[in-house]
Amino acid sequence: MATAPRMAPSTSTVTNQALAEFSSDVIVGLGQPGQKELPSKYLYDEVGSALFDVICLLPEYGLSRAGMRSLKRYAPDIIDCLNGPFVVAELGSGSGQKTRFLLEALSRRQRVNYYPIDISGSALHRCQQELSEMDRVSIVGFERAYLDGLQEVAARRREGEYLLVLFLGSTIGNFDRPAGDQFLREVRKILVPGDALLLATDLEKPIPQLLAAYDDAAGVTAAFNKNLLARINRELDGNFDLSHIQHIVRYDEAERRVEMHLRSTKWQRVTLRRARFSFLLRDGETIWTESSHKYNPQEVPQMGERTGYRCAGQWFDTEWPFAQNLFFAV
Ligand SMILES: C[S@@+](CC[C@H](N)C(=O)[O-])C[C@H]1O[C@@H](n2cnc3c(N)ncnc32)[C@H](O)[C@@H]1O
Repeated sequence: MATAPRMAPSTSTVTNQALAEFSSDVIVGLGQPGQKELPSKYLYDEVGSALFDVICLLPEYGLSRAGMRSLKRYAPDIIDCLNGPFVVAELGSGSGQKTRFLLEALSRRQRVNYYPIDISGSALHRCQQELSEMDRVSIVGFERAYLDGLQEVAARRREGEYLLVLFLGSTIGNFDRPAGDQFLREVRKILVPGDALLLATDLEKPIPQLLAAYDDAAGVTAAFNKNLLARINRELDGNFDLSHIQHIVRYDEAERRVEMHLRSTKWQRVTLRRARFSFLLRDGETIWTESSHKYNPQEVPQMGERTGYRCAGQWFDTEWPFAQNLFFAV
């Protein structure tokens, strides 16, 4: 039986707290000297989450279909590697479409408690709709940041139950490599030996193919990116002139990552009245909004080994180089 997503209590205190945190992160990112930055997690308000679902349908964004194909094909093999009863937590579940294949495979042998964790309430709502009709699967969503949510889920597990943590969609790629390692270590601290982590990673491929994936012809990814400034205008009473903002995508070969930026095509003084903050954006200056690191297949098991796991298997999509990597906490 499915239950409603468990959201953080929607009191005005919590809403004000989230707004205060948003405001403070925006001030730090836009007020710093040098490259201006905004945390990519703020791309996913209700509008951003809906646009991300459309991005997953775009011909250029092969990443999402590769994740879907590989799980459709290999979920039974992945689940066969797990011994014992497992509860499932998913970090940044989004709408949970590809998770279905894993839940189906696991539910053939046990009843499944599935805990999607996402900072976007609307993504969790879609996830609930997407998966609520599955037999032998109960869903309780957590509208939380990754590690806060995972801690809550870990506290709910019963004696003898292991935890399978899913981190799909190559969302790990949003972290710089050292920060990605640190994140895996933080996840490991919450786990016990025998718990598993299924980590999806987008692999290196020709640069034009990667650039097109983040700069599609229909302009949906551009809208997704620009929505971050529109969100700031809405929530912090800002006055970014979006008609003079361009979506920019570049590939940094040394770091092996796609970067998304927003570039101003004129000088603009931006005031965020609710944040009591004002700054100057120069003509040509960019705000860095997201990184998507790309991996080679050999480095992913090494990432696991140096952060407290052993890699038990890798499954690949060959149409769009992409890997599902299964780690066990040691
Ligand atoms: C790239 S999407 C991936 C969605 C889905 N896993 C997939 O593979 O299609 C990233 C998801 O993580 C969520 N997210 C981003 N940062 C987060 C954070 N710090 N804590 C919790 N969720 C986060 C976003 O709201 C979004 O739904």
